[in-house]
Amino acid sequence: MNHLSAFSRSSIGKKIIVAVTGIILIGFIVGHLLGNLQIFLGPEAVNRYAEGLRALGPLLWVVRIFLLAVVVLHIYFTIRLVIDNRKARPEAYAKKDHVKATFASRSMGLSGLLLLAFIIYHIAHFTVRVTDPRFALLKADPLNRYDVYSMMVYGFQNVLVSGIYIVAMFLLALHLSHGSSSFFQSLGLNDKKLTPKLATAGRIFAWLIFAGYTSIPLAVLLGLVKPTQAL
Ligand code: HEM
Repeated sequence: MNHLSAFSRSSIGKKIIVAVTGIILIGFIVGHLLGNLQIFLGPEAVNRYAEGLRALGPLLWVVRIFLLAVVVLHIYFTIRLVIDNRKARPEAYAKKDHVKATFASRSMGLSGLLLLAFIIYHIAHFTVRVTDPRFALLKADPLNRYDVYSMMVYGFQNVLVSGIYIVAMFLLALHLSHGSSSFFQSLGLNDKKLTPKLATAGRIFAWLIFAGYTSIPLAVLLGLVKPTQAL
């Protein structure tokens, strides 16, 4: 236990906790994207997938609580790192020099905070379903499952809602594109040749995630994906 608390107090320990919790969240983001992309396979696939998740019962709650703990740790240790850095350099730079810092790296705090706000909105929207009264009117699908497919389509037909999602996905990509290069640094992978390559790979990955997620509201707005029932 003592080792663990010394680890979490050391600067490198905190960085590793932020990195490892980050990679777990990326795992969720990739899995969630693959699940959601099934909307392109039609209502049968995506409704079956959503029902499958719900059928996990108590296990779903274990996963939810685990993910929530991971998010809390990721934010908590990030804040502690920021506090440590401030302590090490009590006065702000007289002249801010952003020569090496990218836009993504400077906005990590803001993009992270806005992402948190998005996740709260998103859970209220699609999981608790309190932001759109029409979702309660949706009839079950032919196999008596909740029609997640039509819910997503009706949700994204609203330009404002889709806009919020697309902006949030942009922030997510920004956050991931810097987070991935910090991740390799935290793990001590600092190599003249390899580091820039990993950073590029991280950026490509982040924008693929952006393209994957935004394809869903865009396809709905363009009328390529239509609801299966009238409201
Ligand atoms: C186009 C983008 C997205 C779509 C279509 C989408 C779709 C959904 C749907 C349908 C649910 C409800 C699942 C259910 O109750 O059956 C859900 C839940 C959730 N989504 Fe998303 N999502 C998107 C983006 C994101 C992003 C970018 C994140 C994280 C950064 C995220 C995190 C979550 C979380 C944490 C839940 C709650 C899971 C649970 O506990 O049930 N989603 N999403």
